[in-house]
Amino acid sequence: MKGIIKLFKRFMPPYKKYVVLSFLFNIITAILNVFSMGTIIPILQVLFKVNTKSYEFIAWNTQGESIIDITLNNANWYFSQMIETHGGSKTLMILAAALVLLTLLKTGTAYLGSYFTIPIRTGVVKDIRNQINDKILQLSMGFFSEERKGDIMARISGDVNEVENSVMSSLDMLFKNPVLVIIYLGTMIILSWQLTLFVFVVLPVMGYVMGTVGKNLKKSSFEAQNKWGELMSQIEETLGGLRVIKAFNAESKISKRFHRGSDEFRKMSSRIARRQYLAHPMSEFLGTLTIAIVLWFGGTLILNDTGIIEAAIFIYYLTMFYSIINPIKEFSRSAYAIQRGLASMDRIDKILTASNELKELDNPKKISFKNHIHYKDVWFKYTEDWVLRGINLKIEKGSTIALVGQSGSGKSTMADLLPRFYDIQKGELMIDDVNIKDCTMHDLRAKIGYVNQEAILFNDTIYNNIAFGVENTTQAEVIDAAKIANAHEFIMATPEGYQTNIGDRGGRLSGGQRQRISIARAILKNPEILLLDEATSALDTDSERLVQEALEKLMKDRTTIIVAHRLSTIKNADIIYVLQDGQIVESGNHNTLFSMNGIYTKLCAMQGEV
Ligand SMILES: Nc1ncnc2c1ncn2[C@@H]1O[C@H](COP(=O)(O)OP(=O)(O)OP(=O)(O)O)[C@@H](O)[C@H]1O
Ligand SMILES: [Mg+2]
Repeated sequence: MKGIIKLFKRFMPPYKKYVVLSFLFNIITAILNVFSMGTIIPILQVLFKVNTKSYEFIAWNTQGESIIDITLNNANWYFSQMIETHGGSKTLMILAAALVLLTLLKTGTAYLGSYFTIPIRTGVVKDIRNQINDKILQLSMGFFSEERKGDIMARISGDVNEVENSVMSSLDMLFKNPVLVIIYLGTMIILSWQLTLFVFVVLPVMGYVMGTVGKNLKKSSFEAQNKWGELMSQIEETLGGLRVIKAFNAESKISKRFHRGSDEFRKMSSRIARRQYLAHPMSEFLGTLTIAIVLWFGGTLILNDTGIIEAAIFIYYLTMFYSIINPIKEFSRSAYAIQRGLASMDRIDKILTASNELKELDNPKKISFKNHIHYKDVWFKYTEDWVLRGINLKIEKGSTIALVGQSGSGKSTMADLLPRFYDIQKGELMIDDVNIKDCTMHDLRAKIGYVNQEAILFNDTIYNNIAFGVENTTQAEVIDAAKIANAHEFIMATPEGYQTNIGDRGGRLSGGQRQRISIARAILKNPEILLLDEATSALDTDSERLVQEALEKLMKDRTTIIVAHRLSTIKNADIIYVLQDGQIVESGNHNTLFSMNGIYTKLCAMQGEV
């Protein structure tokens, strides 16, 4: 219960108006239902002619009589008058018409009651999805090495749906069923408090039995949703790696892995479903049992002619009692849905409440880049082991420095630290003596152009991919950038030129084309600092020449950090730093380094660059 109230406080405020409206119509529906069912009393009396007493009209303000007795008496008087003047059959028709009219009204208000929950349901789900999406954009890269992408997808789809169900159920639980129960119960007490007292000795027993089924449901749901996330991750991997899977004939291996997970998920969901389905027959059986007991008890009262209850009123009482059973049953069903929803909310909250490790100051410093970038005794680790161990490096404005070294030596990591994709644990990273942690990430990243090891493109047109990082750009500027990046020609050769859609992650382009587009994107941004993480994939000589040319044009007049795999591309760099196990072990320009006969020389020899 605490759980749903918390959930409500979090997501309901924007939709308060609709909650109130829905609540209001639920009340009206319940009252109308009491009256429409009430027509059954005179109908029975007319049909069975049970009412042989004659009635006198009692003034409404008579002392010493309860208002209920007066109402019942006067209603009876009214109907006996009606039978006298119109005859039994016509009275029946009038009563039937009244029943139809009241039912029409009742179903109408019931519809409105649900109608106003629609904006709540759709709104809450939208809000949660948007919140997750925005949080994903905010979180540091570190978060995503631990969370699997498919699992996050599962939360956005499956878990949000569970929350939706649970919010709807809790609306019923808080604003509908209690209203119905209170109004019907009130009617029952008015009709016969003795009988009602009896009923309420029987009902809690039924409630207790139902409650025991619900236990552990939250835990099982949590596990099942986790498993679902795992499966989504596998699908995501399969989709991304189809080429490799096929090339290595690994279909059956991947398929087996999926089937295994899928079977486990099935077992878990079966367990949950069994428990849920059990609820229905059980409550039906227990409901009928209670009705049977009440029928027996009330019937005995009538047969003994104690004067406590009349036959027609007893039937009406039973219809009221029958009406109350449904909302009570729904309580248990809602309780299940809510438990599942809360389990899903916990999983969603793992994303929503994840703390962002990258903090920004309240009053950040302005950043300007006039002199140098300074890596000052920088230490960094992703998880356990230090990846960078005491890096010292000063990069003068306008110079080009290159980072070389074996795979895994920490080159990309060094580049990723400058735009604060990750924060360093020890040391300082400064631009002109301003620690990059002291300025806003937005300002910092505005200065930096970034061409990644894998050209990252979006499923959009070529034009939009180039214009991605820049607002208010003109067509001419985009084309200029593409020309400098040696991309204009091949773009024009595509069917729709700049408006060609490049497919998922640029899947319709070659490796070299993708790189040139991402270079054009960096050129258009015109950054002061350029980070180039060169692709490992060897391009054919022609394509390599084009990319190389494009890069050289891009590097002109900028401060560039280039992570190089092909040493041929960095011979002109001002200083080359050789990394090994997260430390700088050699530095200098190509000629000095080469003549040192150290690691650099070996690297060159490996690449045949002697
Ligand atoms: N997201 C990450 N989480 C944990 N460890 C990582 C992560 N990214 C890289 N590493 C580890 O950090 C080390 C340095 O990786 P980095 O990507 O900087 O190497 P690199 O020099 O760029 O290699 P390559 O030439 O292959 O691109 C590696 O040992 C790698 O295993
Ligand atoms: Mg790398």
